[in-house]
Amino acid sequence: MKKRFEVCPAAELPPGERTITDLNGISVGVFNVDGEYYALKNDCPHQRAPLCMGKVTGTTSVEHTGAINWEDNGHILRCPWHGWEFDIETGRSVFNPNKVRARSFETTVEPADEEPTESEADCSSIPDECDCGSSADEPPVATYDVTVEDEMVVVYL
Ligand code: FES
Repeated sequence: MKKRFEVCPAAELPPGERTITDLNGISVGVFNVDGEYYALKNDCPHQRAPLCMGKVTGTTSVEHTGAINWEDNGHILRCPWHGWEFDIETGRSVFNPNKVRARSFETTVEPADEEPTESEADCSSIPDECDCGSSADEPPVATYDVTVEDEMVVVYL
């Protein structure tokens, strides 16, 4: 069974940013690419450079002689040692995607895993009546705007 690791609040990792962290003894880079989160092992499959410290960039493709395209800007990670390029979303290398790839991990955004506090877990202190004039038989209906502020970037290893 995979183990769940909370990396950081999603708000602290905006698009284009990365964080490198140690998860259970494994160095992992977590990237926000256009609002989606991806995690790669910080270990280049070539000669084990700290891959996730490389430049986030795009790559070139050749359509025909003399026609070079720049594509996938912000989706490619270039190894800092010898420049091998990897697709951040899949870990697949640009030059040989089916045979050479960086290890990637399942990454999601989920509510923080917090134990309920005593006041949240114990509802016995809620009075039957409130000071708005309604009795317990006629509960007042009040609505509030609710926002999720504790969304965490989570990696499963
Ligand atoms: S160690 Fe990454 S390209 Fe060589």
